[in-house]
Amino acid sequence: MNILGIETSCDETGIAVVDSDLKVLGSALVTQIDLHKKYGGVVPELAARMHSQTIDTVLRTALANADIELKDIDAIAVTYGPGLPGALLVGIAFAKTLAYSLQKPLIPVNHLEAHLESVLIEHKDEIEYPALGLIVSGGHTSLVEVKKPGEYKLLAKTRDDAAGESYDKAAKLLELEYPGGPVIDRFAIQGNPKRFKFKIPKFSDGSNDYSFSGIKTAVLKHINETPLENRDELFIKDIAASFQAVVVKILLKSVERAFDEAIHKSMIITGGVAVNSGVRAGFKDLCGRKGMKLFFPRPSLCTDNGVMVAALAQRLFKEKKLADITLDAKPDLKLG
Ligand code: KG4
Ligand code: ZN
Repeated sequence: MNILGIETSCDETGIAVVDSDLKVLGSALVTQIDLHKKYGGVVPELAARMHSQTIDTVLRTALANADIELKDIDAIAVTYGPGLPGALLVGIAFAKTLAYSLQKPLIPVNHLEAHLESVLIEHKDEIEYPALGLIVSGGHTSLVEVKKPGEYKLLAKTRDDAAGESYDKAAKLLELEYPGGPVIDRFAIQGNPKRFKFKIPKFSDGSNDYSFSGIKTAVLKHINETPLENRDELFIKDIAASFQAVVVKILLKSVERAFDEAIHKSMIITGGVAVNSGVRAGFKDLCGRKGMKLFFPRPSLCTDNGVMVAALAQRLFKEKKLADITLDAKPDLKLG
């Protein structure tokens, strides 16, 4: 059973073919980073237009890489939310056309669930449930309990910026390139994480939710308090290291609070920020101490891609969770 997965929820056009054993037969991805770079963030209208321009080529490349033809595809899967409305609609319209013309089933995929289950591609038989699942990307920061694949309970979510968004905004303030995550990560490794003070946000209602907008404002404060002549490379490295240290602390703290030794056996971390060196090191240490097995998808599967869509669709197909031609975008789709 070969499923074609289509992802267009943000600024990556990704298409892949995955078989029933979750083997990736072929994939292709076009990122729009260069297009959005000059604006310091994703411009929704441009993203949608770019998806329409590239999706056909991405399909052809994915099929060529898989060395198969459209007639060898048994079902079409597509991300229908959450994401940018216009961007989602491009993928959905394309998927519907393919499914209708090939007379194959159409499978609707939740982007957040696809991120979470992307770990199954490489670690299917190793994960023990219930697990804790942390989705940290440019658009989302959520902690869920995964009772088993497909059964989720939301434990914490961001009340303002997502973790990746805070990286992107901090980078913009520091006049670094977009996306901010990779560049801040590179500088952070060389800097002093203790030089600048950042407060860990707390909610008066005791909630375990996240807030990242305050640390972005703190970056601006540290910049303004540093004379222009002192804003040299060492300043950038130290502020990047201090910023990264607090982001990692916020994520670790929420997981420590949610962790129940009697229940949680594994920890899954996905989304663009899961590539981060500080996140990886911090969770390796935490999970080692708590006796939880730790799983990350490989870096190319952490950021948006078509592989995770096709992989999740294999389970959804078995569960008969199909859509018809009326499938619409759900920009605010939730998990759990
Ligand atoms: O999962 P993703 O491709 O898109 C969304 O669904 O949002 O994640 C993109 C986000 C961007 O905000 C980017 O800055 C961040 O992931 N990111 C990182 C790193 N690499 C990418 N953040 C921190 N450290 C990294 N190494
Ligand atoms: Zn994503």
